[in-house]
Amino acid sequence: MKTRLAALAGAASLAFAGAAPAETLDAKSADAMMAKAGCNACHAVDKKGVGPSYKDVAKKRKAEANAAETLVKKVRDGGAGVYGQVPMPPNPAAKIGDEDVKKLVAWILSL
Ligand code: HEC
Repeated sequence: MKTRLAALAGAASLAFAGAAPAETLDAKSADAMMAKAGCNACHAVDKKGVGPSYKDVAKKRKAEANAAETLVKKVRDGGAGVYGQVPMPPNPAAKIGDEDVKKLVAWILSL
């Protein structure tokens, strides 16, 4: 019994370590964060708007080694040419903080 408990505790801490850099958002918190930062004006989870759907972003970027880094930078600086010629304007820190961008990007890549 004791060893089983220890094994369980070990598995739990491993799972926790795996989840590390930022906790994963649930869909509701992600949506609230994006509504606040204005992302929802151009993006939706599974419908193309002015920008690509987040599912399309996940599909395109998931397999890339530096996907999270690339996307955090792109969200911050804006840019065009990956999904079409319409640019995404920069999203400055006053609009959304670094930690929140990282959390959102992790969530988008999990879709
Ligand atoms: C004014 C419209 C607009 C707003 C506001 C906007 N985006 Fe975008 N977004 C775009 C467009 C257009 C693209 C496609 C750019 C391209 O083709 O390279 C894009 C692309 C993206 C991508 C994919 C980038 C890539 O290269 O794979 C992500 C992730 C993203 N946006 C997240 C966000 C987040 C998070 C916010 C809010 C903080 C946000 N966007 C706000 C229009 C917008």
